[in-house]
Amino acid sequence: MTVRVLACSFALALALSTSAWAEQDIGDTEAGFQIAAEACAYCHAVLPEEAESPLPRAPRFEDIANTPGMTSRALVVWMRTSHPFRTMPHIVLERDELHEVIAYIRSLRDRQ
Ligand code: HEC
Repeated sequence: MTVRVLACSFALALALSTSAWAEQDIGDTEAGFQIAAEACAYCHAVLPEEAESPLPRAPRFEDIANTPGMTSRALVVWMRTSHPFRTMPHIVLERDELHEVIAYIRSLRDRQ
């Protein structure tokens, strides 16, 4: 009996987290910032205070966050397919790390 209740609440929690995945922030923003500071700040302005990215061609994270249609999902897809760092072997993000960085980017939204 207890096992069934547990199984049910687990299934519910799973369903809730999967639906949240679709549109909401999908990771821990604090951890995301740490990763961004290490892996992305070399080219991108990762803090909203920064007026310009170190690499001018790379958009500021705050600008990315405020780009219309730039959802978490769009970011995941973009990062997996088109991002120039895919060609840079020293930046390898695990799936969770990618989600955390994206949660951080999304947290910068509407702050400018
Ligand atoms: C080696 C430099 C470099 C690093 C490191 C880098 N980026 Fe980028 N990024 C770029 C450049 C250059 C562009 C613009 C590409 C273009 O316009 O073709 C870009 C574009 C992007 C975009 C798309 C913006 C848009 O509006 O389409 C996202 C999202 C992004 N980067 C996220 C990240 C994240 C997250 C990290 C760290 C995990 C990261 N980048 C690390 C150089 C870098």
